[in-house]
Amino acid sequence: MNDFEAIYARHSVRSYKPDAIEADKVLQLREKIDELNAAGNLHLQFIEDAGRTYSRLMNRVAGLGSAPSVIACVGKDAEDLDQRVGYYGEQLVLFAQKLGLNTCWTGTFSKGNTDADVKEGERLVICIAIGYGQDQGRVRKSKSYEDVAKVDAAVGEAPEWFKKGVEMALLAPTAINQQKFVIRLGADESVELVDKGGIFSKVDLGIVKCHFEIGAGREVTKS
Ligand SMILES: Cc1cc2nc3c(=O)[nH]c(=O)nc-3n(C[C@H](O)[C@H](O)[C@H](O)COP(=O)(O)O)c2cc1C
Repeated sequence: MNDFEAIYARHSVRSYKPDAIEADKVLQLREKIDELNAAGNLHLQFIEDAGRTYSRLMNRVAGLGSAPSVIACVGKDAEDLDQRVGYYGEQLVLFAQKLGLNTCWTGTFSKGNTDADVKEGERLVICIAIGYGQDQGRVRKSKSYEDVAKVDAAVGEAPEWFKKGVEMALLAPTAINQQKFVIRLGADESVELVDKGGIFSKVDLGIVKCHFEIGAGREVTKS
């Protein structure tokens, strides 16, 4: 499975089988986490036993209490921490998808109930539920290309790479499926991601950036 296939296959999954993730896959996840932590200056952690991370009533009702494991997204507090968590965390989500696992980003986890190692000066931003889903989730509603893409008038018809980037960005998970972002293409081929606000919108922007870059095959200029 390549990145494109993983993006199409990924949907948020909130009900999990009780099966634990096999040791060889845990090892691969931990190796990938080490790589992403080094690249993003983060302290992402795989927590094998999700324990009471999803003990809140709303999470239990949603089914998240069944998640066997969790990824705690921790990093040294900084202005861009949320966006980096989104950007590198989503790379991990897509890696997990390729391993046959399912995930769900979760802002509603119980902070006090995770076994995350949060050192002084660090912040636990969000958690990602991970395990084998009861199903693969489902396709959800999405904004359209016209809703989120803004192309400089001097460009005329947007190039294929930009369109593919936007297509992948529209498949990115966002909190409450808000998709509150705009992707601007400048006359000089620059790409700017604009955050239109909302809950966890900075994490969303990092996730969207990850998807856009996979689709476009080039980096976002400004976010
Ligand atoms: C930053 C962020 C926070 C989220 N928090 C929750 C959450 O607390 N509970 C939940 O059930 N889903 C949560 N989600 C999952 C979104 O509801 C889901 O990504 C969105 O509805 C789009 O669906 P999809 O992921 O299947 O494409 C979150 C997603 C993101 C990106």
